[in-house]
Amino acid sequence: MSAASTANTASRDGVRTVAARVLATALEAKSPVGALLETARVGLSSRDQGLLHELVLGTLRWLRFVDFVLETAAARPLSKIDADLVPTLRVAVYQLLYLDRLPSHAVVHAAVEDIKRRSHRGAAGFANAILRKVAQRRDPTKRSIEWPIDTGDPIEDLATETSYPTFLVRRWVERFGKERAASALAAGNRRAGFQLTCLLDRDELAAELAIEGVETQPAEISARGLYVLAGDPRKTGAFRVGKFYIQDQASQAAALIPMPAAGDRILDVAAAPGGKSFSLLAAEPGVSLVAADVSLARVLRLRSNRERLRCGFGVVVSSGEQPGFGGGFDRVIVDLPCTGTGTFARHPELKWRISEGELSRLAGRSLEMLIPSADLVAVGGRLCAITCSLEREENEDVVAEFLDRRPDFELETLELTPEHASFVAGPGHWRVLPSAKHDGFTVHVVRRRR
Ligand SMILES: C[S@@+](CC[C@H](N)C(=O)[O-])C[C@H]1O[C@@H](n2cnc3c(N)ncnc32)[C@H](O)[C@@H]1O
Repeated sequence: MSAASTANTASRDGVRTVAARVLATALEAKSPVGALLETARVGLSSRDQGLLHELVLGTLRWLRFVDFVLETAAARPLSKIDADLVPTLRVAVYQLLYLDRLPSHAVVHAAVEDIKRRSHRGAAGFANAILRKVAQRRDPTKRSIEWPIDTGDPIEDLATETSYPTFLVRRWVERFGKERAASALAAGNRRAGFQLTCLLDRDELAAELAIEGVETQPAEISARGLYVLAGDPRKTGAFRVGKFYIQDQASQAAALIPMPAAGDRILDVAAAPGGKSFSLLAAEPGVSLVAADVSLARVLRLRSNRERLRCGFGVVVSSGEQPGFGGGFDRVIVDLPCTGTGTFARHPELKWRISEGELSRLAGRSLEMLIPSADLVAVGGRLCAITCSLEREENEDVVAEFLDRRPDFELETLELTPEHASFVAGPGHWRVLPSAKHDGFTVHVVRRRR
């Protein structure tokens, strides 16, 4: 089903029906769920828009655990349940497990009525039986459900309980240890709120936003960052006149490894929709910046962001694999397309798209962008490879291969400001794991020697 058809019917159908449709599309299509939600929310009240976001993002976030509960209650694997019923059942189980606003009987009734409208009586009876089984396990005082998991394999149990693919949990536990892995897994399941890159003094902006009903606090790892505690910053005058850009604080910080200096000539090779460029300009307005991207649609979004933020820098459509301009930049940053394993909180659909095969495919593409980009760096200048992935194949392995092929570059010893210094993971290597306050990012900085 297309996003447009989702939008057309949004006002007619109940919000749960729309949520089930968006969920199904997000899992089938490769498009980001954010774009699907933007279309689907047209025609809904702002309260229903909030519920739609919660139902879709929450069900995607907890999909594996929701399916586990669904299969246990149905006493059969998902593949043996009519595929047309699955999205509605998933959304209803998510509601029963995680949302306490509606009483259980209302959740079950809404899902069963929806199925009755679209399917036969037998299907509605089947859905009713499953959902009532789940609802019976709800503790009426806390409206929460304890659902024991014991597959006999601790990794499998952890993956089900935290709702991630098993292979990812296994590799994070092996790589970061059980405790740090568990904390990164929990961070990927948080409801990520708004964070802002301030284009003016952050205390001044915080005071201005407070007057407009948006409560903020300073971000920890970005001196220009604000963390939104309450209110919608997109509905403010400060947003309209371009006083800030919405961006996770780890993404802001990643652009500043190391801090730029006034007069630096910077090329942002994969820039759209502009986050790293705006972060660089917010930190040092004296840089001279060119932002490029291969996607025309994304460049148009970058341009409209640049106009709203009233920033003056060049924007071009260009491929990092065959850049069409001359070199001599002090810094070339390449924010590589990646699996996004540091950003599950903002993009929970990515959990169900990632595979080990995808990791090696993206790693190959990264080198195809980095090698030509290296030619654009001045002698003594630096190339910064950024990803929002924590995976070795997309980061350490790519940089090792790059250095093999470009012996004129070496890893730079990073000299960073105190808020960034604690994330140095080795020579030229900076990594922040996802936490309750931000996404995860990896940066490698290599310097051109000759
Ligand atoms: C991680 S996103 C960039 C995010 C952006 N830097 C920001 O902070 O807002 C990766 C970008 O790489 C772009 N891209 C993919 N292949 C490319 C190529 N060969 N050359 C240039 N850009 C490319 C995509 O269009 C996408 O906009």
